Amino acid sequence: MSDTPFSAEIMERLAETRRVLESIDQAHLLDHAEDCSAESIEALLDHCEEIDLAAAHRIMRDAAETEFKAPPLDSIRPAASIPRHPEDEDALREIGQKLIDEGKVAAFTVAGGQGTRLGWNGPKGSFPAAPLTGKPLFRLFAEQILAANRRAERRIPWYIMTSPINDAETRAFFRDNNYFGLERTDIFMFPQGVLPSYDDDGRFMLASPEMIAVNPDGHGGSLRALRKSGAVEHMKSRGIEQISYFQVDNPSVRALDPLFLGLHLDPERSSGEMSSKMIPKTSPEEKVGVFCSIDDRTCVIEYSDLPEELAQATDDTGKLRFIAGSIAIHALSVDFVDRITDGHNAQGLPLHKARKKVPRYLPDEGRTDSPETPNATKLEMFIFDAIPLAGRSLVYETDRVEEFAPIKNSEGVDSPGSSHELQFERAARWIESSGHEFPRDADGRRLANVEISALTAMDPADLKSSPEVPDTISPGDQLAI
Ligand code: UD1
Repeated sequence: MSDTPFSAEIMERLAETRRVLESIDQAHLLDHAEDCSAESIEALLDHCEEIDLAAAHRIMRDAAETEFKAPPLDSIRPAASIPRHPEDEDALREIGQKLIDEGKVAAFTVAGGQGTRLGWNGPKGSFPAAPLTGKPLFRLFAEQILAANRRAERRIPWYIMTSPINDAETRAFFRDNNYFGLERTDIFMFPQGVLPSYDDDGRFMLASPEMIAVNPDGHGGSLRALRKSGAVEHMKSRGIEQISYFQVDNPSVRALDPLFLGLHLDPERSSGEMSSKMIPKTSPEEKVGVFCSIDDRTCVIEYSDLPEELAQATDDTGKLRFIAGSIAIHALSVDFVDRITDGHNAQGLPLHKARKKVPRYLPDEGRTDSPETPNATKLEMFIFDAIPLAGRSLVYETDRVEEFAPIKNSEGVDSPGSSHELQFERAARWIESSGHEFPRDADGRRLANVEISALTAMDPADLKSSPEVPDTISPGDQLAI
C-alpha cells in the first residue's frame, strides 16, 4: 500500500481506468497500483489514456481479420513500371518543377524508426551519413530543401514524423543545429502513434511501473498521424497539393524530384494520388519490398512476405520476374491522404505482425526482465499498403547509384560503408556528365573521392559552370564541394 493515500481525483481516475481495463480483460495492468506512489500512478493513468487501450484492444482482437494475408500465388503478377528517361522527360520535369516553384509540394520524412540494426544511439536522422564531411542525414535533406527554396524563391515546408521515443531528441537536434539554416516555422514535427505489444495470451504488458509496453505503429501510421497532428489541414491552408515522401535512412534520396512529380501528375499514367519509385533488384534475396499487381491493382509485397517461388522466378532471358524493388519513395496527393483518413470513412491499412523481445516489468518481483527470445507480438502498418487504395498508381524505375544508398546496418549490406561508396560514385558520375574529367583506373574504378553538397548542385547540370569544381581532380584527392 502506498504511504500517501491517493487523492479523490486519482481514486476516481483509477476506478474509471480499471473499469475500462476490466471490460477488455486487461485489468492486470493495474494490479500493482496500490503499491505505486501518487506520481507513478498518475503517470500510468496518463499513459493508459494517451494510448486509448480500449481502441488498441479492438485493433488487437480484430488483427486476425485485418492482418495482412499473402494473396494466392497465381493472382500475383509483376507490376508494370515506367522505364528511366521516358520520351517526354523534359516536359514532365518542367511540370513537376513548376509545381515545386509554385509552392505546392511539401517534403515529408518518416523518421520514427528506432535504428536498432544500425546500433546508433540517437534519432537515425542525426547519424553522420555524408562520406567526407560527416553531415548527418537531416542536414543532407535540409540542404536539398534550402537549394530548392533558392531555386523556387520561396520556402518549401518540411514535415517530419518522429515517434514518442525519439521526438524530444529529434527536436533538440534540430534546435542545436539551428534548424540547418531553414526557417524554424517551415519545419513541422509530429510524433506517430503507438500500439501496445502483447504476449502470447493476448495480454498487454508493463514496461515499467508507469508505462505500458508499446511500439510505434509503423510508417503506415504516418497517414493517420498527418491528419491527427493537423498537418493535413496545415498543408491545405498553405496551398500544398502534393507530398514528397521518403525515409530517413537514404542520404541519396531526391527530396523533391521534378521528373517524378511530373510523372505522378500525368493523367495518362496516374490518378495523381500515390506513385512510387523502384530499382531493379540485384538478387532474389535483396531485402526490399517488391511491386506486384493483384487484380490489376499495384501493390507492394514485403520481402519477408513474398513467396520464395515468386522471389526466385525468372523469365526466358534469366531476368527476375519480380524485379521491381521498392525504395520507399512516394508522391502522395494531400487530397488522397485526406480521403483515406477521413473520419468514419477512414480506410485502415492492414496490420503486419512481428515477433519481438519486449522487456517486461514484473510488479511482484519489482524488476524488469530481458527476454532472450521473442516473447511478444507487435502490430505495424506499412505505407505501401495505401497504394491499392489509389485509383491508378504508377511505378517509376530509377537508378540505384542515383537515388538509393540506404544506411540500415552497422556493417556490410546497406551500411555506412556501402552508402559512402554509392554516394562517391554518384558524385563522380555527375562530375563526368557535366563535362569534367574524373580520374579512374583502366577498370573504371574511381581514383579520387568527391562529396557534393546539394547547395552546390542538385543535378549534374548545376556542375557545368560551378566554380566549386576544380580544373583538375587528381588521383588520391578527397574533396567536399
Ligand atoms: C523498408 C521497406 C522495404 C523497402 C526498404 C527500402 C518496410 C516494412 N519495408 O525496409 O519494403 O524496400 O525500406 O529501403 O518498410 N519508420 C517510422 N516508423 C515506424 C517504423 C519505421 O517512421 O514505426 C521509418 C524509419 O524511420 C525508416 C523507415 O520507416 O525511415 C523504414 O523502416 P524499416 O523498418 O527500417 O524498414 P526496412 O526493413 O528498412
